Amino acid sequence: MGQIHLTLSQFISKKQTFPTGEGCGLSELLGDVGLVGKLIAQDLRRAGLINILGTTGETNVQGETVKKLDEIANETFLSVLRQTTQVCALASEEMEKPAYFQERGPECKYIVLVDPLDGSSNTDCNMPLGAIFSVLKRSLPDRMPSDEDLLKRGIEQVAAGYLLYGSSTMLVYTIGQGVHGFTLEPGIGEYLLSHENIRIPEKGTIYAANEGNYQKWTAGTKKYFDDLKVHDKATGRPYSGRYSGCLVADLHRMLLGGGIYLYPGEVDKPEGKLRLLYEANPLAFVVEQAGGKASTGMSRILEVEPKKLHQRVPLIIGSRRDVETADAFIQGRT
Ligand code: AHG
Ligand code: MN
Ligand code: MN
Repeated sequence: MGQIHLTLSQFISKKQTFPTGEGCGLSELLGDVGLVGKLIAQDLRRAGLINILGTTGETNVQGETVKKLDEIANETFLSVLRQTTQVCALASEEMEKPAYFQERGPECKYIVLVDPLDGSSNTDCNMPLGAIFSVLKRSLPDRMPSDEDLLKRGIEQVAAGYLLYGSSTMLVYTIGQGVHGFTLEPGIGEYLLSHENIRIPEKGTIYAANEGNYQKWTAGTKKYFDDLKVHDKATGRPYSGRYSGCLVADLHRMLLGGGIYLYPGEVDKPEGKLRLLYEANPLAFVVEQAGGKASTGMSRILEVEPKKLHQRVPLIIGSRRDVETADAFIQGRT
């Protein structure tokens, strides 16, 4: 028998230390996010055979076309996390308002925000997909959270991570003690530790962005992208472009091998496209915990003050030195 990997629950109980009273709750919650991943991965493996590709005919609160799989993933998060003892509210990209689990008592500590299916333009062509989650602590134990209680800065997250449905299914998370990655072993239905304490290289040679938007960008942003293509061996340029249409998959590549993902603000849309609370913040927490950086181009993502649930934000994320260089161009310092 080869090396036996720790399971997700073994790893959490053996290797992570929690402040008193936090242990079981977060451990159950991470296990339940893993369960969502198993259920969705099972659907995805046979998606072309069970009539779950294509659109529902609806548009969501963001004005985007809803894919059948967006809805299935959202329903799966709802039905699994509704049963997670310590979760009292769930907010999602696919729901205008958060769902509150009113039956929960004061011992119920956590609020979860999710992008239930990330990269949904990839559903119908068998390309990678993901899900992103952010966990906040309920502020007042004696009353259910209100909509405002969900509007917290990223630095207040107690856990965050993502599921990646690629050639294998992975769960990657942080509780503020490094970043750890688990690969689903489908034969036994367990997540096994495959990437302990991921550290992102401080500089990479890969960039990911939708360059079809080039003409919409500011002069500083355009100049940065032009600079990535200059031939200069010493700095690893030209960088290679790798853009999958799935932020989770692109970010996972950067975490392991270094590089930078950008969805910048545009001249006519300075707020960018991605959502602060359930896309940018959780991935920024993960990347910072791995030694990288996440910025709006102007400031640290984790310190952005949220004003509304579905708020958008420009996102520049990845290797520390690459993000610093991009920020310098965007701010007109280079
Ligand atoms: P979602 O599928 O949750 O709406 O997110 C899509 C995001 C992100 O995953 C991806 O990098 C980007 O939006 C793709 O947008 P473009 O099609 O504009 O490139
Ligand atoms: Mn997304
Ligand atoms: Mn989505």
